[in-house]
Amino acid sequence: MIRGDIKALAAYHVPDSSGLIKLDAMENPYVLPEGLHREWLNHLGTVDLNRYPDADMAGLRRKIAQREGLAPEQVLLGNGSDEIIQMLLLATNPGTCVVPKPTFVMYDLISRWLKRPVASVPLRADFSLDADQFLQVCAREKMEIAFLACPNNPTGNLWPEETVSRIARGINGQLVIDEAYAPFAERSHNHLIGPNVMVLRTFSKLGWAGLRLGYLLGDADQIAHLNKVRMPYNINALTQASADFLLDHLDVFEEQAALIRSERTRMFSALERMASVTVFPSQANFLLLRVADPKAVFEGLKEAGILIKNMHGADPMLAGCVRITIGTKEENDAVLAALQEIIG
Ligand SMILES: Cc1ncc(COP(=O)(O)O)c(C=O)c1O
Repeated sequence: MIRGDIKALAAYHVPDSSGLIKLDAMENPYVLPEGLHREWLNHLGTVDLNRYPDADMAGLRRKIAQREGLAPEQVLLGNGSDEIIQMLLLATNPGTCVVPKPTFVMYDLISRWLKRPVASVPLRADFSLDADQFLQVCAREKMEIAFLACPNNPTGNLWPEETVSRIARGINGQLVIDEAYAPFAERSHNHLIGPNVMVLRTFSKLGWAGLRLGYLLGDADQIAHLNKVRMPYNINALTQASADFLLDHLDVFEEQAALIRSERTRMFSALERMASVTVFPSQANFLLLRVADPKAVFEGLKEAGILIKNMHGADPMLAGCVRITIGTKEENDAVLAALQEIIG
């Protein structure tokens, strides 16, 4: 029988995007350049699909570790970083999980699946985080694990270094700094990694959302324990082969990320000039806006063939807000033109 609390949950909703410009899920809008695409397909042709994938993935972990300036033993691979969040919540003591509010929904959702209590610390109205309050809640709730998305989703801001390091130093439990949007941010936190601080990364936002590959960086002993709750063969052979190939061509994706960052700056200025729109500073590949009528903006953009995310109703602090992923220049121009029409 299905548990009552599971029956009461709303499933993670993924809207139908067929035929629409897809700016709802923070994907990289660029495809692989043609030559590289051909080479990648040739590489995939070398995979033996009749065999289980490499279970240990030492080669892949070595490549990632080298890029991060760490040892391969400090890298854990997951089927997207979502799966790693699940492994962390499975393997840590079943005490409270502390998160800011609003933040990425999967920390709360997976905790509920696992019947773990969650305590949330409201952000200030400008989406800044009070480190002292966060530490107080951690102490009061006897937290076992906390997640800080840096930059945060859905607000897009990156809390100051001082805020993050104060929490990292003061916390009594496991801190996971989730850097899903690191390719678009000015700072990463690998220097804070230690026995109780880990950094979570994903290739999804850099351009490989379809591959589902995330990784956790941490203390080698902690990683070895977490590896015990990793499904054998969690990374399929096609993803492994793709990642092995694409990691040798990261410059292509880094150039795409630079284009996205410069489009983010252009979009920010254009949106800032629109009357009745408040646009919040972002270090991610999306912008959060507050508008007078979010439903009209969402529906109006959809009619214009553009799918975004309406955040109104997700959290009281997100009243009037919509989240728009940064697309190609043409896609962004289409957003601006449609918004002008909708809100005049
Ligand atoms: C903060 C944050 N962490 C993790 C993820 C999940 O990424 P993945 O595609 O690696 O599962 C997301 C996805 O939107 C995110 O916003």
